[in-house]
Amino acid sequence: MAVKKSNTIKLKFDSARNLAPAPESKSAAKINERYDLFINGKFEKPSGKKYFATINPANEEKLADVAEANNADVNKAVTAARTAYEKVWKKTAPKERAKYIYRIARMIQERAREFAVIETLDGGKPIRESRDFDVPTAANHFFYYAGWADKLEYAFPNRNAQPLGVAGQIIPWNFPLLMAAWKIAPALATGNTVVLKPAETTPLTALKLAEIIREADLPPGVVNIITGAGETGAAIVNHPDINKIAFTGSTNVGKIIQRAIAGTNKKATLELGGKAANIIFDDAPLDQAVEGVINGIFFNQGHVCCAGSRLYVQESVYKTVVQKLKDRMETLIVGDPMDKNTDIGAINSKEQLETINKYLKIGQQEGAEMYQSACSVPRKGFYCRPTIFTNVAQSNRIAQEEIFGPVLTIQSFRTDDEVIEKANNTPFGLSAGVWTDKGSKIFNLTTKLRAGVIWANTYNKFDPVSPFGGYKESGYGREGGLHGLQAYINLV
Ligand code: NAI
Ligand code: MG
Repeated sequence: MAVKKSNTIKLKFDSARNLAPAPESKSAAKINERYDLFINGKFEKPSGKKYFATINPANEEKLADVAEANNADVNKAVTAARTAYEKVWKKTAPKERAKYIYRIARMIQERAREFAVIETLDGGKPIRESRDFDVPTAANHFFYYAGWADKLEYAFPNRNAQPLGVAGQIIPWNFPLLMAAWKIAPALATGNTVVLKPAETTPLTALKLAEIIREADLPPGVVNIITGAGETGAAIVNHPDINKIAFTGSTNVGKIIQRAIAGTNKKATLELGGKAANIIFDDAPLDQAVEGVINGIFFNQGHVCCAGSRLYVQESVYKTVVQKLKDRMETLIVGDPMDKNTDIGAINSKEQLETINKYLKIGQQEGAEMYQSACSVPRKGFYCRPTIFTNVAQSNRIAQEEIFGPVLTIQSFRTDDEVIEKANNTPFGLSAGVWTDKGSKIFNLTTKLRAGVIWANTYNKFDPVSPFGGYKESGYGREGGLHGLQAYINLV
């Protein structure tokens, strides 16, 4: 019976895979040939006159040239941010600050389609995700923190919340616009000024945001957006006039930043890697859990710091769950990110695809069994078919290290204590998922799993109200919610 049922589902989805293409139009967005640095309210040429290309990872075509900021440019941006802080922004009434932030939020909404198209072209994520997740969630962050700007005395009763000064913010390539929103919105609401650097493979939506910020008439220098790679990031981190570093990215760079700011007065929040356990108990609604596992690891090609990349399934339902997962994986459409039917888009860069492929080899050499869906992938561009590994040992590198791709390891367990121990046996601690019918089990696990965010019977849910951040090598500090304000103030 069970087999028959899964066959019918498969047939239905097989025909769905032959859906006619439904491409979003490239022309919905205007991309300039060349972008300069956004410093002090103006776009300025980089002093070293150097530019680098950003490409579309779905077809390897160049989209634009982007300025490379050197030390002198970083210094210019920090000086602009300092002057704007001292002369304008810290003196601006909180309710006036709020108006600017609301305006930015509304302008993101008005240009949502343009943002979504650029995000997808520059980074490779499915247009459905940019359109339905990244852009609306980014706007929501600005709305949420606009609301706090003139209510800080209620957020921190009987205390006086003072801004820190100039915030240096460095963001990754997996959620480019959303991470810019996570960083800029709370900084502005609390009266800080900003120098932000997007990642080198995905700078375009941050630069679009710069255009909006200029149109919103935010006082010059309050937000500066400069582009470049690791060296530019390091120049921001090491600049003596920066008061706070907010970083999202790899644990390795997080460690470099920690070393660089040790002994200085710079504050920091570090949002680093993850290797989240997603745990299915035998009393869980299995179809719902399988959906959650699919979303947990294949959302945004698995380029998600909180991705549920280690699946633990209770032994009695292990076989059923693995089969259901394989069936569901066969229905996933991998390909052109601009097609509205696409579930899994392009891997963000050639380097990242090489990293993922390296881990696929390591997994097989370690003795794990690899299964990939049978879908075809475009010949041009960077793609990886959804992949699961079974027969995985806890000590395997694929179960210990962050792969940051559509790759899931699966292990079984028998008891609560066993799975808690396995789930916590990792250097990371960003997130986790628990699937069970029993509230008591959820409470038992959520108190014992060492992870900053734990989802129960769902996965990858985000809201500006809810704080997000890690334990251990996943970093420290929280972004989002009331906690997210705290990262940008001194309480006196
Ligand atoms: P990365 O950590 O090098 O890049 C993130 C940002 O940091 C970029 O804007 C980059 O230009 C900047 N950066 C690089 N070196 C820097 C330095 N020394 N000082 C200051 N800023 C610096 O990440 P990468 O190399 O692109 O990805 C490598 C691995 O990192 C991925 O495979 C993944 O495992 C992990 N990663 C995790 C992310 C997360 O959200 N947890 C996001 C991006 C990558
Ligand atoms: Mg790009």
